[in-house]
Amino acid sequence: MSDIKFIDDVEIEGKTILLRADFNVSMNPNYLTIADDARIRQVIPTINYLLKRNNKLILASHLGRPKGERVPKFSLQIVCNQLKEYLPEYNIILIDDFLTEPESTFKNQKPDDIFVYENTRFYPGEKKNDPEFAKKMAVHADIFVNDAFGVSHRADASVVGVAHILPSYGGLLLKKETEMLSMVLKKPEKPFVAVIGGAKIETKIKVLDRMMELADSLIIGGALANTFLYAQGIDVGASLFEKDKTDLAQKLLFKAAQNNTTVILPSDCVVGNAQELEHGSMVCKVSEVPKDKQILDIGPETTARIGSIIAKAKTIVWNGPVGYFENIHYRQGTDFMYYAITNNDDAVSIVGGGDTLAAISKKEYLDKLTHISTGGGAMLEYIEKGTLPGIEALKK
Ligand code: 3PG
Repeated sequence: MSDIKFIDDVEIEGKTILLRADFNVSMNPNYLTIADDARIRQVIPTINYLLKRNNKLILASHLGRPKGERVPKFSLQIVCNQLKEYLPEYNIILIDDFLTEPESTFKNQKPDDIFVYENTRFYPGEKKNDPEFAKKMAVHADIFVNDAFGVSHRADASVVGVAHILPSYGGLLLKKETEMLSMVLKKPEKPFVAVIGGAKIETKIKVLDRMMELADSLIIGGALANTFLYAQGIDVGASLFEKDKTDLAQKLLFKAAQNNTTVILPSDCVVGNAQELEHGSMVCKVSEVPKDKQILDIGPETTARIGSIIAKAKTIVWNGPVGYFENIHYRQGTDFMYYAITNNDDAVSIVGGGDTLAAISKKEYLDKLTHISTGGGAMLEYIEKGTLPGIEALKK
């Protein structure tokens, strides 16, 4: 098996290209507007690169998890509207059902028409990686380009299936994502600090395990930290934690000790009630959390400790907020993380995960990070395994 080829390694001109993007953007609660279009923005260089070389484009993506059914709120029409903002000279045309669309539509595609297949997950064949379904998706194109790093951990028909049918290449975003993450995984400048937050151990276990081998310091935050605190015999009051994962947390701490990785857990915290809109929070030691209160953010002592570790880091990887940032009273820790990371000019910093990016309070932080990964689960799996099914499928 050879390495994958990217679109700028080869000459692709005058072809029709099926371009898989990850347009699974975060939406505002009413599903009428996009909350953050980073995933659209970051594919535009690939789109422009291919258009410049007289290629015609058919874009494919999923949005949400409609489970093989047509769920109107997950229509890609909203993505088409946003694409138009970035590509005003092109007609962005949603193909409502590519399975029944007349052949003539594809034959008559003009150079300034960009077709967008409706949500791939409206079809049951997508998640099953049904070869017949993949064939029908591929039939109108000469070449497949995967620029959907964010969904490359899913062996879906539009990610993996079509790559086995058409000559296939990686897009410019896929290239950037894999280069940045590989650099950090293979040759991180030391000290290497990993920050892993979020709620559940289950989704983070493998990355925590891997980081215990790679990182010099591992900062654990969010509800994830509560399970580790509980595993150390600390009563976390009414906080969210996973009792049945205590053994796992202990094993991970043991592994960290064997590998000389310093694990930083909160020593103090902001406690309150997640649903209270009124300010009912207080700061205390993690060993003194009242029975009826939840740990919802890191406290000032922890913040100061983390700040000095991050200031000395040369490589920083962050996935998952360190507090309940959705409530303004508990977002200071996560805000501070952004502040500390973006104020360390000597470090390579990679931040990923939908929640982590949704927690950005100041847009200027975005420009100061070395790389913003469009992958949440994909980033975690890439760190763990060094590859993804969608990337493997491009190797021929
Ligand atoms: C993501 O948001 O992580 C990707 O778009 C993949 O979506 P999924 O978790 O629904 O497969």
